[in-house]
Amino acid sequence: MTKKTLPFTKTQIKKIIKSYPTPFHVYDEKAIRKNARNLLKTFSWNKGFKEFFAVKACPNPYILKILKEEGFGADCSSLPELLLAEKAGILGENIMFSSNETPAREYKKAMELGAIINLDDITHLKYLEKNAGLPKLICFRYNPGPLRKGNAIIGKPEEAKYGLTREQLFKAYKMAKEKGIKRFGIHTMVASNELNPDYFVETAGMLLGLTIEISKLLGINFEFINIGGGIGIPYMPDQTAVNLNKVSNGIKKLFKKSKVKLFMENGRMITGPYGYLVTTAIHKKDIYKKYIGVDACMANLMRPGMYGAYHHITVLGKEKAQNSQTYDIVGSLCENNDKFAIDRKFPKIEIGDILIIHDTGAHGFAMGFNYNGKLRSAELLFKPNGKVEQIRRAETVEDYFQTLDFSKL
Ligand SMILES: Cc1ncc(COP(=O)(O)O)c(C=O)c1O
Repeated sequence: MTKKTLPFTKTQIKKIIKSYPTPFHVYDEKAIRKNARNLLKTFSWNKGFKEFFAVKACPNPYILKILKEEGFGADCSSLPELLLAEKAGILGENIMFSSNETPAREYKKAMELGAIINLDDITHLKYLEKNAGLPKLICFRYNPGPLRKGNAIIGKPEEAKYGLTREQLFKAYKMAKEKGIKRFGIHTMVASNELNPDYFVETAGMLLGLTIEISKLLGINFEFINIGGGIGIPYMPDQTAVNLNKVSNGIKKLFKKSKVKLFMENGRMITGPYGYLVTTAIHKKDIYKKYIGVDACMANLMRPGMYGAYHHITVLGKEKAQNSQTYDIVGSLCENNDKFAIDRKFPKIEIGDILIIHDTGAHGFAMGFNYNGKLRSAELLFKPNGKVEQIRRAETVEDYFQTLDFSKL
């Protein structure tokens, strides 16, 4: 069971709203730092352990800077994400560039930053060589296909567009060796939002086994295995967080005396539980069902509409009130799946009530979009001293029109 609590009081939120109107995402710095430290401590038996935060989960340079201060690197998947990492001072081999269908200019920037290049296909080795030159350290992404089950969000590995097959992997490292590359790593990402700790132990075992086989055959050494991200979080109150000690102990047993570095690139479990989307109830509508219309919409948080994902919602100040009503909590998009909750029990909600949508710190703001002319919200940082800092302002209509030239009409 995970108790869904808030790091701020009703008075604090009301005060914040006076300066920053709803909707906005707010992130709890203290909790993010504590969680980051706990992850590093749990895996400290592995001398080279590193977490490369998946920038796509929360692409804000202030969050990246906090995580850098805690000792994290960055996992980037595009040119803008590389630039964000650079701005936050994350450089060189503290960046893992795990992209797919990558344009040449993105490889060039990654090489310029000295990032670890993780290739998604065997043909990309030649492409990289031609367009950006070869790095000293190379990594390939393995797709185990039918050998692993995958999970609900990411699907079956054999139907996923990512990575190299087992057979290709052997060829790829051989080719890389023949081209004079001397340093090697291996990567995979086979699950997303997975709550079973054994899954990650299995993944580490799979990669370790492969490195032993490939090393024997080709006479190369692996510096690291990167088991990807994908550690799930308890979105629902009846779920429990992944037992990281179980993951760590399981992997430690597999490593025996191996000196290989263990890398991860989680996004969701790093910031997800520590972000909140704060929104105001602005309409009540009773037709065939009872609706509460809020000032946030799917453009601020796509997960419920896109995957039917559950996000817990607290009606601020009514935490102890009886859940006497059944509502759909809806946004203003002209899409009927713009619903943060469907047929969910709540206390009686009045216009003006503040609703806090939990667990929006990863793949929340980041998935935002402008469909229906919706503007992206602000992002705020709730500091350990109780103050709030705006780390991204809300979009304006002018921002939305910036790419249009009305003078030619
Ligand atoms: C290559 C890669 N690494 C890491 C992540 C982060 O996943 P999560 O936020 O579930 O940990 C993703 C998510 O899409 C990914 O595609």
